Amino acid sequence: MSFLLGIDVGTSGTKTVLFDENGNVLASALGEYPLYQPENGWAEQDPEDWWKAVCNTIAEVIKKSGVKAENIKGVGLSGQMHGAVLLDKNNQVLRRAIIWCDQRSYRECEQITELVGKDKLIEITANPALTGFTASKVMWVKNNQPEMYEKINKILLPKDYIRFKLTGEFATEVSDASGMQYLDIPKRKWSDYVLEKLEVRKEWLGTVYESQEITGVISKQASELTGLKEGTPVVGGGGDQAAGAIGNGIVSKGIISSTIGTSGVVFAFSDKVIIDPLGRVHTFCHAVPGAWHVMGVTQGAGLSLKWFRDNFCIEEKRTAELMQIDPYVLMDQEAEKVEPGCEGLIYLPYLMGERTPHLDPYARGVFFGLSAKHEKPHMIRAIMEGVVFSLRDCLEIIKEMGIEVNEVRASGGGGKSKLWRQMQADVFGTGVYTVTSSEGPALGVALLAGVGAGVYKDIQEACNLCVKHKSKQEANKELYHKYNSYYELYRNLYTALKQSFRELDKVQKV
Ligand code: XUL
Repeated sequence: MSFLLGIDVGTSGTKTVLFDENGNVLASALGEYPLYQPENGWAEQDPEDWWKAVCNTIAEVIKKSGVKAENIKGVGLSGQMHGAVLLDKNNQVLRRAIIWCDQRSYRECEQITELVGKDKLIEITANPALTGFTASKVMWVKNNQPEMYEKINKILLPKDYIRFKLTGEFATEVSDASGMQYLDIPKRKWSDYVLEKLEVRKEWLGTVYESQEITGVISKQASELTGLKEGTPVVGGGGDQAAGAIGNGIVSKGIISSTIGTSGVVFAFSDKVIIDPLGRVHTFCHAVPGAWHVMGVTQGAGLSLKWFRDNFCIEEKRTAELMQIDPYVLMDQEAEKVEPGCEGLIYLPYLMGERTPHLDPYARGVFFGLSAKHEKPHMIRAIMEGVVFSLRDCLEIIKEMGIEVNEVRASGGGGKSKLWRQMQADVFGTGVYTVTSSEGPALGVALLAGVGAGVYKDIQEACNLCVKHKSKQEANKELYHKYNSYYELYRNLYTALKQSFRELDKVQKV
C-alpha cells in the first residue's frame, strides 16, 4: 500500500494529514501559530512559525501512524494564498509575511491599475488589482519600506516557502501563482508584461509548474527535521481553495463548493477562461491541467463567528471545555432556538473589509435591526445567516456568468455544522451535499501527490476513487422565500452604508 502526505499551511494553523491510497486518514496533526495585527486591517504572520508547525506536525503524523517513511510515496503542499514571503540573497526572511486578509495596500491597487492599465490587467491576470493579492502587498513594501524592497531576492507564497525549506527549490504551481497577480492566467505562465510594468524581476519568482508535477524532493536536512525519507517527491500542490476543491471532487462542470473557513468561498470548475468584467469574482488556474476556476471570496466568514466566540462566548468556551466538546456545538444549539430571520436582526460580515461582491476595504461589520428583545443567541444566528447571505452573493454572480450549477457541496470548518449547512440549502434554494472526507485541502494535495508519484492515472481517477457523497440536505421552499426578503434587505444595507464606511475611516484618522 502507498501512503500520501498532505500539508495545509492555514491561517490559524498547519494541518498535516497522512492518507492511504483510498483517501482514508491514517493520522493527522495540527500546529497553531499567532496572527499579528499591528494596525486596523493589517494581518501578518511569521514564516518561521509555519515552518516549525510543518516540521512538528509531519514528525507527529509519522509517529502516530506507525507508517514507515519509505512507504510515503509523495508529499503535496497547500496553504493560505496570496501572502508575500520576502527573502534576501541569503534566503533569510526579510519581514513578517503580509498575508491574504491584510487590507493596507488599497492605494497600491490604484497604482497597479495605472501602471498596467485596467483592461490589460483583467485581460492578462483575469482580475482587477486587489488588496488581497500579492502584487499590491509587494508594492506596499516598495512604497513604504524601500530599504527592505532593495534587499528582495525572492518573493514566495506561504506554501512555496515551505517547499523551499523542504526541498531547497524555488517553485510554485499555477493555482496559487494565479493569486499573485503576476501570472498570465490564460497562458499559465508569468507575464513578462505585468512584471516589467511593476518592476518585479522574474528571477525573484519560483518556476511555475502544473499542480500535479514534481517540483523537487525532500532534502537531507529536511529529512532529519521531519522524519520524511530523503528523496521523497514533493508535487506542486495548490492554493487552499483549488486544493480544497479537489478534496471535494470539484474536477468537472456543474459541481460547485461552498466553503466556510476563515474566509468564505464559492468555487466553480470551468474548462475555459471566463472573466467577470466587474472583477467581483476571481478567475484562476485550477489545480487540474487545462482547467480554470471561478470563485467568489468573502473576507469574514468563519472569522466572524470566531470573533464572536472569542469576545462574547466565554461561558460557552468554559462549558465546552468541561464537556470536552467544541464551543461551536453549544453556539449552534443556541442559534437553533432562534427563528430564521432572527426576529429582524441582520449581520453584515465585513469585519476585514470585503472582496466579493463589493471589493471594498473600507466596509465594516454591522448588526442591523437590534432591539431590546434580541439576546445572544439571536446574534449568533444572525452572524451565521449573514455569512450565508454573503456566500449567496458569490453564487448569484457565478450563475450570472452562465456557469452551470447542478450540485453544491459544503465544506470547511463551518460545513461541519448541520445547522449552517441547512441555512445554505434554504438561502441558496438548492440541496447541499457533503462528501466522505472533511480534509479538503490536505486530501486535495495528497491526491495530486498521488498523481505525480504515479499512484493514480489522473486527478479525475483519484477523485472518483476517494471522494464520495456522504449526506444531502434539501432546501425548505418556505424558508427560501422568507430568506429571500431578508437577503434583499441585506444587499440594500451595504449600498446604504457604503459612503458611511468611508467617512468612518476618515473620522478614525482625525
Ligand atoms: C483565496 C483566499 C483565502 C486564503 C485563506 O483567494 O484569499 O482562501 O487563501 O484561506
